[in-house]
Order: sequence, then structure tokens, then C-alpha cells
Amino acid sequence: MRENRILRKREHIKYSLSLEKKLKRDVFKDIILVHNCLSEVNLKEIDISTKLQGIKLISPIIINAMTGGMQEGEKINGQLAIIAKKLNLAMAVGSQKIALENKDSIRSFKIVRELNPDGIILANLGADASVEEAQKAIDMIKADALQLHLNVPQEIVMKEGRRNFKGTVDNIAEIIKNVNVPVIVKEVGFGMAGEEAITLVEKGVKIIDVGGKGGTDFIAIESLRRKSKAFKGFQEWGIPTPASLIEVVKAVGDNADVIASGGLKNGFDAAKSLALGAKAVAYAGYFLHILLNKGPSRLEKHILQIEKQIKYIMAMTGAKNISELQKRPVIIKGQTYHWLKNRGISI
Ligand SMILES: Cc1cc2nc3c(=O)[nH]c(=O)nc-3n(C[C@H](O)[C@H](O)[C@H](O)COP(=O)(O)O)c2cc1C
Repeated sequence: MRENRILRKREHIKYSLSLEKKLKRDVFKDIILVHNCLSEVNLKEIDISTKLQGIKLISPIIINAMTGGMQEGEKINGQLAIIAKKLNLAMAVGSQKIALENKDSIRSFKIVRELNPDGIILANLGADASVEEAQKAIDMIKADALQLHLNVPQEIVMKEGRRNFKGTVDNIAEIIKNVNVPVIVKEVGFGMAGEEAITLVEKGVKIIDVGGKGGTDFIAIESLRRKSKAFKGFQEWGIPTPASLIEVVKAVGDNADVIASGGLKNGFDAAKSLALGAKAVAYAGYFLHILLNKGPSRLEKHILQIEKQIKYIMAMTGAKNISELQKRPVIIKGQTYHWLKNRGISI
């Protein structure tokens, strides 16, 4: 069992890296922030800090859930934890299911807390976890919040994946009621629609990570693992990140905080996401690609660059903090415009 999970985790990394190389993405190309020629901000005074349900984030950049469970996972988690500590970023670990089943895997997750004792760390499990498992995952790394992931398309493509998804919504509600930290419900790259976001909010969810389409693609990854062409026509599946973000922000209003993720790469993607209403921005596949192909110091520099880019863009829009950025005008064109029109969403 553990061997199978380890192999799967290794293959996720391997195939996500090979797909990442081919990805020529510009997920937010339809979104344009309007220039402000009368900006009066002082770059030095720009504040990019934010809050997720009372959790203060010095930077809006989150390192999203990726790995753990095996030796390479421990190394990756350790390297990411050091960067997260140095740059004051929140960081999620990958699914801890493997460590709940086998003690040998616990260390690869615990290392994140050991290396970053005071940082904001997010635990991670599937949305089908039991309350007991959820609390154990939180306790394992003294997590500040718990991510519960939704990944129906991935499970369907996986040979060994789940086939019955009944009870997910009530299970999420049960976990929220019984664990001692805030819960973030996240997709893993197929996005969320406004309708489902409303259901989640009605069940008590206060933080949503849209995990939209445009970056890591688990239908493609699992198809490579299976060496199967059965899902060849499925590349189109999913809600593109900007459309998902706008849908969810509109749907939940002030009832939940929304995190943008799915294909984010640079500071432009982040600034556009924040302007569209995201409280924070999360990166996974692209960060992993830099870490494993170029090394931790290049990733650190890249993240610092993203923060600088966010500030430059804020200065050019005349916004000195994220809530001011969210009041600036935004143009939406192309496919995203048509998506929103079809869905009857005006912004
Ligand atoms: C190698 C890899 C492993 C992942 N494992 C998990 C996981 O265990 N739990 C989870 O919630 N998301 C997992 N994800 C999904 C990411 O957290 C994120 O939601 C998704 O990749 C979309 O973001 P991206 O386009 O920036 O990669 C994984 C992503 C990658 C690339």
C-alpha cells in the first residue's frame, strides 16, 4: 500500500515536471489592469500583507500542496520550508494520507514544522477524510489551517482511484465543525463554479482555493501514469482559473476568503488575481519546476521577484494595499469575457 502511494507520488512529480516544460501558459491573458497615470503611491510604503479568516499573511504568496511521504518528498518539503520561513510565506504540505497509514512517512511532513516553527503551515487531506484523520493531520505538523482537496477528475482517471463520491459535502461540514483550525477547501486544477462555492459556504466553509485550470493538469498526469489514451479528449475539462476566480468571488461575497491558484507563474498573474478579489495567491507546479530544475536559491529569487512585480503593478494602478487594488478597474476580454457572459456574471 505505502509502496504504491510512494510510487504514485514520485510519478506525480516526474510527470508534472515533464508537462510543465511543455506548458506555454498565460492563464491571465484576458485580464487587463487599467493604468493610473496619477498614481501617488510611494513604492516603499506598499503593503501586500493580507488575511485569511484571521490568519495574518505577511505576503499573499502561498506555496501550495505538493508532496511528502517519501525521501525525495522530505527533501522537497524541507527546501520549501526553509524558503517559506525566510520569505514569510504560508506553505501547505502534500496529502498526509500516506503518513496516517504508515508511521515511516510522518517525518517527511513533520520536517516542515521543525524547520519553520513559527510559520503558517497548512495540513492537507482529501475531502473524504474522517474527522479523526483530519485532526491527526493537523496535529502532526501543528498546522494553522487544514486544506481539504477536491479531485474528482483525477480519481476518475486513476486506475486505483475512487469511484464513489457520495457524502463529500456533508463530510466537509462535519470536519469543519470538529477540528480546531480553519478549513480551506481547494480544487487541484479543475476549478470551481460559483454554485458549488455557495454550497460550500452554506456548509460553513470560510476559505476557498479555486484551484483552476491552466497549470498542473491531473488528467494529463494520470493518463501518462496509466500509459492510456482513454482520456485523450479530456484536455478541455475544467474551469479556467480567472473565470473560476471571478465566479467564486462574486458568489461568496464577504462570506468567504478566496485564494487564486491554478497555473500562476509570475507577479502579473498574482496582481491580476488580487485585483479580481483574491485574498491570496498559491503556486504549485511552477515552483516545483524551478526548485527541481534550477535549485532552491533560484526559487527564492523568483519569489522575491514576484513580490516586487506585485508592488510595481500596484504602484502603476495607484494602489497602496490589496484592498485598494481590488477597487481598481479591470478589463476582461477574450474567452474569459465570453465565459462570464454565458454564465450571466457581470463584474
Ligand atoms: C507534484 C504535485 C503534487 C500535488 N499533490 C497534491 C496533494 O497532495 N494535495 C493537494 O491538495 N494538491 C496537490 N497538488 C495540487 C496543487 O496543490 C495545486 O492545487 C495544483 O497543482 C494547481 O496549481 P498549479 O497549477 O500552480 O500547479 C499537487 C500538485 C503537484 C504539481
